[in-house]
Amino acid sequence: MTAAPLLVADRVTVSYGERPVLDGLDLHVTPGAITAIVGANGCGKSTLLRALARLLCPSHGHVTLDGIPLRHQPARQVARVLGLLPQSPVAPDGIVVADLVGRGRHPHQRRLAPWSARDYEAVASALEATGTTDLAERCVDELSGGQRQRVWIAMALAQETGLLLLDEPTTFLDITHQIEVLDLLTELNRTRGTTIVMVLHDLNLACRYADVLVAVRDGRIHGCGRPCDLVEPTFVREVFGLEATVISDPETGTPLVVPRRRGGRDGGQTASDGRRRDRSTSAPAAAAPPSARPIGHRDWAISVPASTISVPDMPTPWIAQ
Ligand SMILES: Nc1ncnc2c1ncn2[C@@H]1O[C@H](COP(=O)(O)OP(=O)(O)O)[C@@H](O)[C@H]1O
Ligand SMILES: [Mg+2]
Repeated sequence: MTAAPLLVADRVTVSYGERPVLDGLDLHVTPGAITAIVGANGCGKSTLLRALARLLCPSHGHVTLDGIPLRHQPARQVARVLGLLPQSPVAPDGIVVADLVGRGRHPHQRRLAPWSARDYEAVASALEATGTTDLAERCVDELSGGQRQRVWIAMALAQETGLLLLDEPTTFLDITHQIEVLDLLTELNRTRGTTIVMVLHDLNLACRYADVLVAVRDGRIHGCGRPCDLVEPTFVREVFGLEATVISDPETGTPLVVPRRRGGRDGGQTASDGRRRDRSTSAPAAAAPPSARPIGHRDWAISVPASTISVPDMPTPWIAQ
């Protein structure tokens, strides 16, 4: 088995316009582990994931994959090692499931070359692993939110990368399917050694499934470590501005956060220390570094064909041309 890829963010600053969202952030992704990124809405989790996946180029600092800055590595080469499922992917109109999942094979295929047996196998196995084989001929537009999410995950699996980055992969899923997806990712990690980095909005599920929890606050890593070493009431207050009791999950023994009821008229946006938690209202305005720069046409690595993703500053796709 080849060594798990090493993904490192080194003093990474990313800004939108004049406002830094990530501010000199350092992160070493633990190879072979499941890492969950958590933090308040708007704190920069998706921005961090996109920087790690080479979709955003930091204005300062850099992200390295196996010691080489991502920006210096060809897109296809990176996409064979690193796959990304973004937060709200959008499928091309009318595409059927098998074709969408097949797009995960693009980084491994030569232009105009016929599909190999390996390509067919990878797609079949990704469909099976996600329980979507029966949907293979269905139009993606016709699927329920949960089915569609599993199809996107199938596409990321078909890419067969040693590193898989997922932005809120359990969005749109009911609790049963959330557990199924997280169990599937765990199995992938345990059996194939795939390094998983995922943004999760459910702190309790993050505690259950992550080997390493990474909390983002104020554009930096506020805490990084095993959930049982990290998650206690002060942590929850500092990261989410929430008063909570932390008990042991009766099922897994991992931390289980039980929020206290809260009063106030601002819907809980203000922490006990009076600071609001959304970076959109709290980010520093002074000394703005250069803007986040989406990496240009033909110059970025991604598992998902870019034409299928609705991200505001996404460049033209390199796959669907
Ligand atoms: N393309 C963009 N242009 C301008 N601002 C953005 C863009 N994407 C995100 N932001 C802002 O950056 C901050 C962090 O966003 P994001 O990384 O999506 O947060 P999270 O995933 O933690 O909810 C938010 O305030 C958000 O409004
Ligand atoms: Mg997000």
